[in-house]
Amino acid sequence: MTASLIDGKELARTLRGRIADEVTRMGAEHDVVPGLAAVLVGDDPASKVYVGMKHRDCGEVGIASRMIELPADTSQDDLEDVVAGLNGDDDIDGILVQLPLPDHLDARRIQELIEPAKDVDALNPYTAGRLAIGDPTFLSCTPYGVLELLAHAGVDTVGAHVVVIGRSNLVGRPLSNMLTLKGRDATVTLAHSRTRDLAAVCRTADVVVAAVGRQALVTADMVRPGATVIDVGTNRADDGSLVGDVDFDAVAEVAGAITPVPGGVGPMTRTMLLQNTLEAARRRRGLV
Ligand code: GUN
Repeated sequence: MTASLIDGKELARTLRGRIADEVTRMGAEHDVVPGLAAVLVGDDPASKVYVGMKHRDCGEVGIASRMIELPADTSQDDLEDVVAGLNGDDDIDGILVQLPLPDHLDARRIQELIEPAKDVDALNPYTAGRLAIGDPTFLSCTPYGVLELLAHAGVDTVGAHVVVIGRSNLVGRPLSNMLTLKGRDATVTLAHSRTRDLAAVCRTADVVVAAVGRQALVTADMVRPGATVIDVGTNRADDGSLVGDVDFDAVAEVAGAITPVPGGVGPMTRTMLLQNTLEAARRRRGLV
């Protein structure tokens, strides 16, 4: 392997240490304990694991977390009532409704109801709009984690060509917006399933971010020697192991720096949720 490894697990550990210190300080100086509520509807096994990890992460850094598990047949009205209750609950600084929701529920409507001051997942269209135009707001957790990884790896995005593959509202779209804002100043190509000659587009990139959810989507011939490769994908390989969207072994022989899966973007996403919850507590309680 010639590429240097961008270690998300280690960076996440460092950032969590800082978050824990800050939570301790807030408690000592202001008697404030930041609070996160995570709402899980139904029995999706992966969602259960994710929410469980978020709950554990909170415990590690001293954030109070409330897990609200609702049955799969929860009605839209009942879920809206739960969100409204959390909006009005002074102990709760951040609200997260785990996706995907069961098909009969209107996820967009639920996201619209989350109080922007508590929208630590940055999925309310109001938050997403502010983010797109560069107004201060919470940053979506995965894109925020990607930016932190790039900074940690010493990758300067100013004037760089970044190819983001995947136009999801959770990752690709907000990340491409964030990268083009003043200060980050990247030239961004947001590629997707209808992009013509994706390989040729990727070969022009200084940074490739793969966020599609397809194993081995990015192969070595698609990466310019020395380019940085960030793998947001999480897929199950035939042998059950967790793999990203990048053909890691082959791409690591070409790239200048690369994130692994697991241990790259994943731990950073969870850490940025903690960071946003801390930030929400600061702002809501006038501690900024
Ligand atoms: N499901 C998968 N990733 C996420 C996320 O970042 N936020 C929420 N709410 N649901 C998810």
